[in-house]
Amino acid sequence: MTDVNHPAPQFSREEAAALAASHFGVGGVATPLDSERDQNFKLMSADGDWIFKVVNASEPGQESEFQAALLDHLARSGADVAVPGLRKTPEGAALAHAPADGGGRHALRLVSWLPGLPLAEVARTPQVLAGLGAALGRLDRALQGFIHPGALRSFDWDIRQASAARGRLGHVADDADRALLERFLDRFDAQVAPKLALLRAQVIHNDANDWNVLVDENDHCRIAGIIDFGDALHSPLIAEVAVACAYSILDVEDPIGAAASLAAGFHAEYPLREEEIDLLFDLIVARLVISVSLSAVRKAQIGDNPYLAISEAPAWRLLRRLDAMNRRFATAILRHACGFDAAPGAKAVTAWIEANRKNFAPILDRHPATLAKALVPYGDPAHPMTVTSAGQQPEKATAWWDAWCAENGIALGIGPWGEARTVYTSDIFWSRFVEGARRVHHLGLDLFMPAGTKVYTPLAATVKSVEIEEDPLGYGCLIALEHAPEGCPPFVTLWGHMAHEAMTRLKPGQRLAAGALVGEMGKPAENGGWAPHLHFQISTDPDLAARDILGVGEARYLDVWAELFPDAATLAGIPTETFHQTGRTRPEIVAARKASLLPNLSISYSEPIKFVRGEGAWLIDDRGRAYLDCFNNVCHLGHAHPDVVEAIATQAAKLNTNTRYLHDAIVTYAERLTATLPEGLSVASFACSGSEANSLALRMSRTVTGSNDALVLDWAYHGTTQELIDLSPYKYKRKGGKGRPAHVFEATIPDSYRAPDDWPVKEHAKRFAASIAEQIETMRKQGRAPAFFIAESIPSVAGQVFLPEGYLREVYAMVRAAGGICIADEVQVGFGRVGSHWWAFETQGVVPDIVTMGKPIGNGHPMSALVTTREIADRFNNGMEYFNTFGGNPVSCAAGLAVLDVIERDRLRDNAADVGAYLVAQFRDMQKRYEVIGDVRGMGLFLGIELVTDRRTKEPATEFARKVNDGARARGVLIGTEGPHDNVLKMRPPMIFSRRDADHLVGVLEETFAAVEAGGA
Ligand SMILES: Cc1ncc(COP(=O)(O)O)c(C=O)c1O
Repeated sequence: MTDVNHPAPQFSREEAAALAASHFGVGGVATPLDSERDQNFKLMSADGDWIFKVVNASEPGQESEFQAALLDHLARSGADVAVPGLRKTPEGAALAHAPADGGGRHALRLVSWLPGLPLAEVARTPQVLAGLGAALGRLDRALQGFIHPGALRSFDWDIRQASAARGRLGHVADDADRALLERFLDRFDAQVAPKLALLRAQVIHNDANDWNVLVDENDHCRIAGIIDFGDALHSPLIAEVAVACAYSILDVEDPIGAAASLAAGFHAEYPLREEEIDLLFDLIVARLVISVSLSAVRKAQIGDNPYLAISEAPAWRLLRRLDAMNRRFATAILRHACGFDAAPGAKAVTAWIEANRKNFAPILDRHPATLAKALVPYGDPAHPMTVTSAGQQPEKATAWWDAWCAENGIALGIGPWGEARTVYTSDIFWSRFVEGARRVHHLGLDLFMPAGTKVYTPLAATVKSVEIEEDPLGYGCLIALEHAPEGCPPFVTLWGHMAHEAMTRLKPGQRLAAGALVGEMGKPAENGGWAPHLHFQISTDPDLAARDILGVGEARYLDVWAELFPDAATLAGIPTETFHQTGRTRPEIVAARKASLLPNLSISYSEPIKFVRGEGAWLIDDRGRAYLDCFNNVCHLGHAHPDVVEAIATQAAKLNTNTRYLHDAIVTYAERLTATLPEGLSVASFACSGSEANSLALRMSRTVTGSNDALVLDWAYHGTTQELIDLSPYKYKRKGGKGRPAHVFEATIPDSYRAPDDWPVKEHAKRFAASIAEQIETMRKQGRAPAFFIAESIPSVAGQVFLPEGYLREVYAMVRAAGGICIADEVQVGFGRVGSHWWAFETQGVVPDIVTMGKPIGNGHPMSALVTTREIADRFNNGMEYFNTFGGNPVSCAAGLAVLDVIERDRLRDNAADVGAYLVAQFRDMQKRYEVIGDVRGMGLFLGIELVTDRRTKEPATEFARKVNDGARARGVLIGTEGPHDNVLKMRPPMIFSRRDADHLVGVLEETFAAVEAGGA
């Protein structure tokens, strides 16, 4: 600053050298340096180089004293930043004085000369700027707590005085320039000044322009020194950063990025506060406004000077660029660089959405996770859909997409968040932050479905705005909803390309419940000229107006936009697998199976599914489609149940060994398991599969009875070992089977639905049991007796056959009378699946001698169990050890205990009873509408629907069943077919199956039955 009323001192070099020698005892050669207000000399002496300063006589003494005290403080504080060192007078004074020509006196100061290059002469890379920020941070940290009366001054360059620039606006000749400054000043007065007063303040350098900063000649990132403390004062700390930025970011490609580097460097050394960073953009502007307005005054004072115009031009250019930027976005970049959320609470919003993802209302009529999805090809610039969309030919784009979807069975097109797209061709897509960069990355989530598709809010909302954006390739009808769920910072969702009907239905301030209609996907004529789709986007900054929300962003700041406008896929219920595929493709896996696995392994469905994740009742495939699992009864508590996962992981991390060592888990589990069974069934043994449990049951029965012969039910399945295949008509009677072995005797399936018409229902048990009596008689005639009778308590492979009431009572009595042991195979039906009881045999009012268990026992962990009576256990104990390497290990027992805990804690038997009864009622209702449904049967969550072509003849509708099975799969629901004729739809959903899940299953079955009946699938 030149004070024209107080010209700079006029000492000659010799006089200056003499003054330095006499006052400071340093003799040398003085060379004048530039200074507007004071007089500075470089003094080269034998003991180094110095700067000798002769202060303008008009400067109040306190200011010189302040600067000297400041340098003295820094020297003593040991700050890790080089600043000029004070050379004191022999008497120990920091300042000396010399008389001034016009009266008064000049303060004299001698400080060490710092080597280095001015920052102005090197490239301002992000690293250099971070280094500068860090140096300033260290400097200001050292100045924390330093105060001096001279610091409490105020002058034009004090950022708090920015408003004073208004008084200088008259000197700004250009109307547009003046208007620009006025805009900034209005904002400063209204929004910045009041907050500024509340920020922490301290002594700061206040003028880190690039001539006052020296860098190491060899390493420009190392700041070699900070000089010229002439503008230091007590001011808001953040002004230090703002002032440095105002110079450092002039004429750079990405000014906000440069400011962010500097601020982050400062923050790393001297942590800034959010409220300080939030004002940084405005304060950079304020400093520039001060600068250009003071230049305007000087221009007026000293006349039009071309050099002045050149030196102020960069500041004007920067002001214009800053004016075009969205302040909130710029602030987001600065906040993010310093490790704060891009918008306050942004990360909390994303975390809340993730944590609550299972509770959102579906955004579409059918949950998008359940639909077959594919990515829309906007990522491919040459694709016809991209080309026609960019060329504003939405009808062509739509026709292409519709045809492709029809061909590939796709119901929902997805335009992912972050995708780089070439469709954004107009000028509005130039970046305002990065010179020459374009905005190409999509920041919303697009859902492509036909025009008219209804969309619903996943959360309760307040309508923020509804408007029409007319621009070609704009949003058309645009809706913004504000959400303020409990425990989550408020955020906004944006719904673009909607039908105009929403304009008359929705009003700002209107409340919408979760699941309420937001609107419909608009036609091209009303949606901005696009193939129909919803642009769905989140803004974690709830104060952005709908039109200001950035729908497409530049690559450089994608990480910032990811916080400000996070991917809305989770909120929309789109599984992540939709976007990222891992591992081998389906055909690759099929080929690899063929090459390296037994060909006997079968694969479900003609178009096999690759599942990558399970969650509750849902299985998610490699393309992000969720299937409702109504078939796999192993995941008894639902897939990946957290309690079981944790129990397994915790125990596996601690110990896994075998039953020959003592461990608590096996005895605790045996006690807990036997407690669920009727009295008498008190001794347990553990194995790894249902087959192993059944195998042990056979060994026991044969040991105890001395007989080898078996009584089984027709179409039964009991396991995969040879001895069990021998007991499984379902295997030995079908392809590859060798027929019934001589020691196996087969009784009729007690299938009431197929009982002869003339059998009174009440007598079904007795009449079917007669078949057992016949077999025992046959055995007797051959001199044989049954070692055991084995049957599932509800024969499943035979077609979900529910035994007639009293059947097992009749049969068990006959078997026992013949000396046999009664084995209940509960591998499929146990563990509370029937709802009313823990075990399905209990519904028959019997107590077996041996119960075998498997599948659901460990919720997917391979384990099984057998429980028997003390008497049988003791008689089996003939000296031969029963050792099963893995059976009953601590990890398996931990899994088993967790399963029992969850069934009890969550009252899952009650749930099975409730939802099962609901499903049976729904199926019976369907039976009224679909002739093909011959019989509906179920108990808890063990369910069957038998299909017949003729209800009178009960001719199996095998083909119809197959089509329903495939059709349900095509609609995202897994069921199975079972029974000798494969005409029984089989369902065994997990015990956590909800009524909502049940409705989904029924809805899909309805749709599928109708489609199959109409000749489709
Ligand atoms: C009724 C029944 N028992 C036994 C088994 C054999 O169990 P695993 O496959 O675990 O050996 C099965 C398997 O499907 C079964 O359904």
